Amino acid sequence: MSAGGTDRRARGKTGEVSVRKARRTDLERVIGIDATVTGIEKDDYWHSVFHRYGAGNRPERQFLVAECDGQVVGFVIGEVRDWEFGAPPCGWVFAIDVQPEYRQRGVASRMLDVLCEGLRTSGVRKLRTMLSRDNVLILSFFRSQGMRTGPFIPLEMDLDD
Ligand SMILES: CC(C)(COP(=O)(O)OP(=O)(O)OC[C@H]1O[C@@H](n2cnc3c(N)ncnc32)[C@H](O)[C@@H]1OP(=O)(O)O)[C@@H](O)C(=O)NCCC(=O)NCCS
Repeated sequence: MSAGGTDRRARGKTGEVSVRKARRTDLERVIGIDATVTGIEKDDYWHSVFHRYGAGNRPERQFLVAECDGQVVGFVIGEVRDWEFGAPPCGWVFAIDVQPEYRQRGVASRMLDVLCEGLRTSGVRKLRTMLSRDNVLILSFFRSQGMRTGPFIPLEMDLDD
C-alpha cells in the first residue's frame, strides 16, 4: 500500500479513507483530535512536531494523516532511531490517534501500514513503541497489528531534591 491509496476495510458508514503526509494546514484538526484523547490543546507542541516530522520528504521521519469525508480523522507519527538503547536502527511509532466517530473501521490499521511501508524504505525491519500499562485500548490495537513484548524494560525515577 502507498500513501494516498485507499483501503476497502476502511469503508463503512463513512466514505473512503486515504492516508497522506500531514500538511501544516492539518494541524488544527490534529490538535483537536489529540485534545479529545488528552483533554489538552497543545498548539506549540504540535507545531514543533510538525517542524520536526512533517516538513521535508524524509522516509525516516513520518507524520501522516488519515482523511475521510473531506476531513482529517486521524494521525500517526513515527521515525527511525539509530542505535538508541544500544539497538540497531529500528522504527518507532510514538503517536497514533483516531477521531472517536471514525474508530473501529480500520483507520489506524491503514495508517500504521503506510507508516511501516515508509519505514521499510529506510531499511529498518523492526517497529517498536511504548505505551502506558493502563491503556488497554492502545495495547489491543498494537497487539492486533502483531506487536508483542520486546526485549527492553522501561525504568524511571523521581528527580526531586
Ligand atoms: C487505538 C486507536 C488508534 C485504534 O484506532 P482504530 O482506527 O479504531 O483501529 P482499527 O479499526 O484499525 O482496529 C484494529 C484492531 O485494533 C483492535 N481494537 C481497536 N479498537 C478496539 C476496541 N475499542 N476494543 C478492543 N480492540 C480494539 C481490534 O483488534 C481491531 O481489529 P478488528 O477491527 O479486526 O477487531 C483508537 O482507538 C484511538 O485513537 N484511541 C486513543 C489513542 C490513544 O490513547 N493514544 C494515546 C497513545 S499514542
